Amino acid sequence: ASLDTLDDEVPPANRQQNRSLPPQPLPRDTFANTPDTDPSLPANRTWGRAILDRVPSSTLGNAAVDAATISDADTLNTVIATAVGKGKAWGALSGDERAEILHRAGDVLEARRADLLEVMASETGKTIDQGDPEVSEAVDFAHYYAESARKLDRVDGATFVPAKLTVVTPPWNFPVAIPAGSTLAALAAGSAVVIKPAKQARRSGAVMIEALWEAGVPRDVLTMVQLGERELGQQLISHPAVDRVILTGGYETAELFRSFRKDLPLLAETSGKNAIIVTPSADLDLAAKDVAYSAFGHAGQKCSAASLVILVGSVAKSKRFHNQLVDAVTSLKVGYPEDPTSQMGPIIEPANGKLLNALTTLGEGESWAVEPRKLDETGRLWSPGVRHGVRRGSYFHLTEFFGPVLGVMTADTLEEAIAIQNQVEYGLTAGLHSLNPDELGTWLDSIQAGNLYVNRGITGAIVQRQPFGGWKKSAVGAGTKAGGPNYLAGLGDWVSADASA
Ligand code: ALA
Repeated sequence: ASLDTLDDEVPPANRQQNRSLPPQPLPRDTFANTPDTDPSLPANRTWGRAILDRVPSSTLGNAAVDAATISDADTLNTVIATAVGKGKAWGALSGDERAEILHRAGDVLEARRADLLEVMASETGKTIDQGDPEVSEAVDFAHYYAESARKLDRVDGATFVPAKLTVVTPPWNFPVAIPAGSTLAALAAGSAVVIKPAKQARRSGAVMIEALWEAGVPRDVLTMVQLGERELGQQLISHPAVDRVILTGGYETAELFRSFRKDLPLLAETSGKNAIIVTPSADLDLAAKDVAYSAFGHAGQKCSAASLVILVGSVAKSKRFHNQLVDAVTSLKVGYPEDPTSQMGPIIEPANGKLLNALTTLGEGESWAVEPRKLDETGRLWSPGVRHGVRRGSYFHLTEFFGPVLGVMTADTLEEAIAIQNQVEYGLTAGLHSLNPDELGTWLDSIQAGNLYVNRGITGAIVQRQPFGGWKKSAVGAGTKAGGPNYLAGLGDWVSADASA
């Protein structure tokens, strides 16, 4: 969009941000990002406190999860056949008709913001300040894809043919926004959906799905399943009636899915190992803050998170950036979401495998600038860690860990820093802190990542403004960017006017 059109998209002045009042529905023929909750309003802090009070005894989503559990192959086959059958009427609706229902879904998700925050905190440990933008993103996906649905009908010279059935397999780390985004996109594109929320986040997925049902998406067109056994997962992914699979998860999962079915039409956003480069021209105060937030927001459990910071030249040699980063990281308050002062919450399950290794073991030449500590017996609460001396080509340099640990690397020049950043096999997000336009040009010309951020953090992409998708091993399949103008076009088939004549 040009800057002119962006100006037109400023939210209407009467949009309600006081969450204790009923939300104001968006206008129906436009898209504007929904505002996050403003914690400076006392009413919103009271609202947030009431949510946290409900977290320990929350049962939201339980009933829907129980109802969705499938333990045998015949039942799963029936679910698939029903979805395909009922999906025909959904696919036959016009884009405008589907848009109406999707806009309503956005309104219901907004109205259930408090429930979604409660269930995410209760089930996954997500703090309210991390969960709130995630709900906004889900609401944005609904309204954005609603408008995208209308546009599918208006492409000259080609007709869009919806997929019959799309399977959605989302991750646990954004348990509302990512399942919502994938599901709403497929629905907007006229496909029935079978969704299997991640097992660590199925209650959160269930509450999101209930909101879509409440908005008028038929239950047989959007079906949630919980599969008791791995064989059932394989059956679902490899079922011939499935003509799209949208996966967000690890690269290995994408490979596993491909091993189930060779011709699998997969759109996958997979792993990341993301770095921020800080050059001597940078605003170091800003850089330290952005690196700390990108590395430790949601305890580093974002595919977009910063796992490395690469310090160039004098930034590496002086103590200034080092001290600022250590101060920022050691002052983070770690705790469970029920405590409203927690700035970094728990990790999803007791640290194990690669992450436990990264939290407890140093590689050759490495030392702790801030040593991570296990804070309680659950194994889930860890203070953040920062290691110095990460060497080029080392295990820490190249491996994704998905938790609260950051590695510091150094480079003599920006070119060397870019080479270090590009050496990883993934390419999801990347950041540059520099106030020098020449450096910016060099970096933009050569960096290999799908989502680039300059002089800001590298997490928290915003629908429409920052369409989100990976490069290299961060994407599998012909994916276009989620929350961007072309995403729906890849979720069905196109027949040219000539061919259909
Ligand atoms: N879309 C999420 C982010 O940008 C992953 O942080």
